[in-house]
Amino acid sequence: MVCLGNICRSPLAEGIMQSKVDKEHVFVDSAGTAAYHIGKLPDHRSIDVAKKYGIDLINQRARKFTEKDFAKFDIIYAMDEHNYQNILSLAKNKIEAKKVKMILNEITPQQNLSVPDPYYGGDDGFENVYQMLNEACDNIAKRI
Ligand code: 4NP
Repeated sequence: MVCLGNICRSPLAEGIMQSKVDKEHVFVDSAGTAAYHIGKLPDHRSIDVAKKYGIDLINQRARKFTEKDFAKFDIIYAMDEHNYQNILSLAKNKIEAKKVKMILNEITPQQNLSVPDPYYGGDDGFENVYQMLNEACDNIAKRI
């Protein structure tokens, strides 16, 4: 699960996805394309909305997406078009490039819609992001 800062959207996506799959079989992680927040906890608004739905983000720390993640993960979900392009620019071949997907295509296939960045908005932005990611992760979990 990849966004820009790895403090708002992708930590929520990680927590939600992890809550829907068997930890023994599916490893879920998140990262950001930017380095601004490396080592930080998720934004308190992400922590709060996750907590409201029984999901704990407190053990997460922000990290930057690296080329090595292509070898480590089967599917790489971008939260928005910028993240998608930034991740893709690091892919070394077609196999790696094919791993990168827009997460909202799990709800509305082929539309390439972006999860809105809630960082500069109010708390309702985080609720909105939670609902979108919850629906997308439900669909992913059903398939895998
Ligand atoms: P995220 O949100 O990409 O969902 O973690 C953001 C977090 C921080 C910034 C932008 C977006 N920032 O500009 O610091």
